Amino acid sequence: MGRTEKDADKTGRLRRELLAWYAVSQRDLPWRQSQDPYAVWVSEIMLQQTRVAVVVERYQAFMARFPTLVALALAPEQEVLALWSGLGYYRRARMLHKAAQFVANQHQGNLPATAAELRLLPGIGAYTSAAIASIAFGERVAVVDGNVERVLCRLEGWEAAGKAGGAVLARKIQGLADELVDPERPGDFNQALMELGATVCLPRSPQCLVCPIEADCRTKGEHKVASRPKMLSREVAHALTVRTGHLPGQAHREVLLDQRPPEGTVMPGLWELPTLKEPQVPEEDLRMTVRHAIMQVNYYVRIRTVFEDDVEDLTVAAGVRRWVPLGEAGSMALTGLARKVLNRAKLLAAPPLDTLTSGRR
Ligand code: ADE
Repeated sequence: MGRTEKDADKTGRLRRELLAWYAVSQRDLPWRQSQDPYAVWVSEIMLQQTRVAVVVERYQAFMARFPTLVALALAPEQEVLALWSGLGYYRRARMLHKAAQFVANQHQGNLPATAAELRLLPGIGAYTSAAIASIAFGERVAVVDGNVERVLCRLEGWEAAGKAGGAVLARKIQGLADELVDPERPGDFNQALMELGATVCLPRSPQCLVCPIEADCRTKGEHKVASRPKMLSREVAHALTVRTGHLPGQAHREVLLDQRPPEGTVMPGLWELPTLKEPQVPEEDLRMTVRHAIMQVNYYVRIRTVFEDDVEDLTVAAGVRRWVPLGEAGSMALTGLARKVLNRAKLLAAPPLDTLTSGRR
């Protein structure tokens, strides 16, 4: 099917309207102050599966500690994971770290400048490579994330396909995105489309009245609305065990932590409070209850005060178990839940981190 003059008009209009809207409506986000490819890379990895509000807070601390790719490459992995704490999906942090070491060793610390080369790095797929190449290097490649998919499907009146049609629809969406992306300002155009999906063309309540491309939209709010993902519930319980430490001449308190198996698949190598064998906790020992969401699961967590002598009987045997001085715990690679509990119990010196990832932006 050849492109008509009308299509070309529409493409030009969409680009203009979208870029003009983005210029005045974009959120003021810290990574938008910089075109440093490393900064763009870190932000795009953090933004995968994590809400912007959480990323803003963690991004600044991460960049303050690892301001350059080489600084990140030289850091021990446990420190990288500690600064990732609260963002979840820790595999992303490990891959980012590995890729930084690869780039430091093989590319003199400079990220490659094209999407095709970027894709060869660990943890960088189609989405991230296109985002970095277009935003930091001005390459004309389209970024397609969940927000862009939704915007383009609504624009064209395409229905989200079932499993079988998924690949065909994905190709159509990518084709349209490739065609639309502005050749002069691909980075801004890509971000504008993502921003529109994140702030206006919302999954359940699209704000068509303020949409800059409503005139060209086939559905204008008359489309199927995504249903809320079904959340599962789980009950778990952890032990909070604190003792006075035995360093010579210095009174300090220590908390008992377990390290998750480093070879496991779920949060490998992270430190958590010992898990109780029994999710039920006697009233008098209940220190707090916490709700904690990870992806599609709501965890209802009971925290039990456990005395040192009872720990072995009440908790699941752990691999590595350590008494950690409270002054050190905040800078360790804690699970998001452990950090939340220690903060609420006012046992951490590090800044509070109460907001945790929910799997969506
Ligand atoms: N989501 C992920 N990356 C983004 C970006 N650069 N701009 C807007 N939304 C995004």
